[in-house]
Amino acid sequence: MSQSLATVAYLGAAILFVLSLGGLSNPETSRRGNLFGMTGMVLAVLATVFGPRVSPAGIAWIVAALVIGGGIGLYAAKTVKMTQMPELVALMHSLVGLAACLVGFASYVDTSLHFQGAEQTIHEVEIYVGILIGAITFSGSLIAFGKLNGKIGGKPVLLPGRHWLNLAALLLAIWFGGQFLDAATPGAGMTALVVMTLIALLFGVHMVMAIGGADMPVVVSMLNSYSGWAAAATGFMLNNDLLIVTGALVGSSGAILSYIMCQAMNRNFVSVIAGGFGAGTPNKAAPGGKTAQPQGEVVAVNAGETTDMLREARSVIIVPGYGMAVAQAQHTVYEIARILREKGVTVRFAIHPVAGRMPGHMNVLLAEAKVPYDIVMEMDEINEEFPDTDVAMVIGANDIVNPGAAQDPTSPIAGMPVLEVWKARNSIVMKRSMASGYAGVDNPLFYKENNRMLFGDAKQMLNEVLVALRA
Ligand code: TAP
Repeated sequence: MSQSLATVAYLGAAILFVLSLGGLSNPETSRRGNLFGMTGMVLAVLATVFGPRVSPAGIAWIVAALVIGGGIGLYAAKTVKMTQMPELVALMHSLVGLAACLVGFASYVDTSLHFQGAEQTIHEVEIYVGILIGAITFSGSLIAFGKLNGKIGGKPVLLPGRHWLNLAALLLAIWFGGQFLDAATPGAGMTALVVMTLIALLFGVHMVMAIGGADMPVVVSMLNSYSGWAAAATGFMLNNDLLIVTGALVGSSGAILSYIMCQAMNRNFVSVIAGGFGAGTPNKAAPGGKTAQPQGEVVAVNAGETTDMLREARSVIIVPGYGMAVAQAQHTVYEIARILREKGVTVRFAIHPVAGRMPGHMNVLLAEAKVPYDIVMEMDEINEEFPDTDVAMVIGANDIVNPGAAQDPTSPIAGMPVLEVWKARNSIVMKRSMASGYAGVDNPLFYKENNRMLFGDAKQMLNEVLVALRA
């Protein structure tokens, strides 16, 4: 393939990636978005493998790598559970970081590249920055993976003087950068590069260890952004325009997603990165530093009573959460919604932006169960509807319906926007126990007068409700 044809193919792939991101912004166009993305990637791989920069002997290596990597990817995609998706994503990001480091070192020792003067300096800066971002992404993503799958504890590990340690790491990285650029021989530059890589690896570990489990989604999306910038840096090193464009797309979309998630959790991005949330320290806003204890009585109901409440309702809002995903209850939920709608009940689904364990988690499950898109509402659209709703049915959700976030300034999640289910005439919370949710915070909703608790596994309870509804 000639250089010009490869460039045209790269351009086509870049356009397809932009269209893919556009398509993924809406559930109705997301399939098409995925298709654009896959086509773009196939085009990019073909244009690279058969492009002018790969020799026929190199193709065999690439095909072997594709078969091995593709095989592992296919296996992981088939076996991973939806609830394990964030940890898989974190692991994938670590590979992007590792690739950036390896390409950086390979570029540095590559004797076939001959740059002079300013070009040489630019190339070395690309290598240094690429390895720096890559190493932070690699070690940070591995720690995020460990925290998400429970191999590493979720509590933030806060070293004394940690901000000073971070500052020292930054200053050292800059100083070694100067040494690297000034090195008279490649050997001298290599020492500076290796030391900086070690510092960056330690920095990545330290940064993510200091962040509590409740902030992990933001961290994963931030590492997603880093992995994009690491890929863009790799693109500069390899002089590959498509990698630069794709890396920049991933880097900027990851940064925007991190910002949106921070807003949904009412967290300041800088304070998330600074870490420490969820260490068990009382909220500084709290007078006396104590969170208010929930008042009231917990009233449990059974599936039959739940069915009666649903039968008598004219409008129902269903709030799915992480527990629905764990129980894989989405199909049963859909059946219940369908029967209620046939009986003339207005049924809608309310989606919180961080419900579940990854962005769009609930949308994916509901789409899989064939819930029509027009009854799936975002938090901002649905919140004003709760006061006119007879029953708000919460299925395996907890933090995202916690009134403490809106009403108790002493709550650790104070200020996080939540679905205001307590404003409905009645609410039913379906979960197995009184245990707290992801943020580890007690939920005053369970004690409200108009709330009922249906204890049990979401799928089993919903099956009982479904049987009773059909009877
Ligand atoms: P959570 O607050 O984690 O609550 C889920 C509840 O589901 C738990 O209290 C649990 O109570 C219940 N549950 C678990 N298994 C169940 C089962 N088989 N049947 C019935 N109930 C079950 O979930 P949420 O309300 O969806 O909120 C999400 C939380 O995760 C937020 O704090 C958010 O910040 C965080 N987070 C979000 C993301 C993204 S991006 N979405 C990523 C990581 C973390 P029992 O044990 O009593 O059953």
